[in-house]
Amino acid sequence: MKGILLHGGHGTRLRPLTHTGPKQLLPIANKPMSEYCIESMKESGVTDIAIIIGGLGSNKVIEYYGDGKKFGVNITYIKQDQPKGISHAIRLCKDFIKDEKFLVFLGDNIIQKSISDYVKEFKNSNYDATILLCEVDNPSRFGIADIQNGKLVKIIEKPKNPPTNLAVTGIYLLTPKIFDIIDNLKPSWRNELEITDALDILLQKSNSISYHTITSYWKDTGTPEDIINANGSILENMTPYNFGKCEKGSKIEGNVMIGKNTLIKKGANIVGPAIIGNDTVIGEDAYIGPNSSIGNNSKLSKCNIENSIVMSDCIISCKLKIRKSIISSNANITESDEEEKIFLLGEGTKIKI
Ligand code: TTP
Repeated sequence: MKGILLHGGHGTRLRPLTHTGPKQLLPIANKPMSEYCIESMKESGVTDIAIIIGGLGSNKVIEYYGDGKKFGVNITYIKQDQPKGISHAIRLCKDFIKDEKFLVFLGDNIIQKSISDYVKEFKNSNYDATILLCEVDNPSRFGIADIQNGKLVKIIEKPKNPPTNLAVTGIYLLTPKIFDIIDNLKPSWRNELEITDALDILLQKSNSISYHTITSYWKDTGTPEDIINANGSILENMTPYNFGKCEKGSKIEGNVMIGKNTLIKKGANIVGPAIIGNDTVIGEDAYIGPNSSIGNNSKLSKCNIENSIVMSDCIISCKLKIRKSIISSNANITESDEEEKIFLLGEGTKIKI
């Protein structure tokens, strides 16, 4: 079975983080979020994968994944000229898929459960599609499945009056039947070819779509809050390691992952779950609290961080309590001697002091 990984899109809700690259390369526990998708596909036996790229930073995706060998998969890149919708992206893969069943993964979906049983079952079934559902608190934000007497009867995109709170996750098992449906699909109000519309038409045309409800962690990481949440959940389930050096007088509690050549200096305090990348220095008076990910080659001292992501090559040395924050690579947050605060902010920056 082949796979399609969607790595395009606008990423507007994640600006300014997406001004310089695609959202799917944003790190969660120091790893691009789409790498979790590749791992999940590989684990379920799907190793021939087309990655849909488009827009800003497509070259970064190719640079990172290359031909896929490093990740144990085979990668083909397919360019989407404009983000015209998930169905549009899938349709671009018709020649790649040929007449096989296939797995689609949206590159910003984080799922912790293995999907290999679902893939196996679909492979051996006569279903025209299988979707994975997950309960959500805010169903009006998602594509929702209407289930009556255990039977899937309708799929509705962002309903005002949701019939259930079961969101259709961004993991779809499909057959080439979907291509003909997409060929006749009309763009939605937001001018996109929606996957929910394609699935619903497939269903209404008396095709059989099965579903599974996931009860373990799943997140569509469209917003900064979603990313912070996913980061905490991934960290919670990681096994601690230490490839760095912890000076006498440093304090490490709970599940903490420390990378190569990283130095935790005397007086630093790290409370897990937390991950610190390679070649990073956590200095005296630095407190790195639960659910924090600190990238490679950064220097942190005199700081107080919890529930946040700091990417690579950052310098932080200031007494602020940093919470629920995402700090991009090469950021520099230090104290000024003056009473005044000095900012040099990129377009769309958000600060709450
Ligand atoms: P969305 O999160 O629905 O859209 P988006 O990425 O454009 O973000 P925003 O709404 O914040 O502007 O996309 C879901 C996934 O599908 C995501 O991984 C991006 C991918 N995608 C494509 O690859 N091509 C597309 O045309 C669209 C719309 C999305």
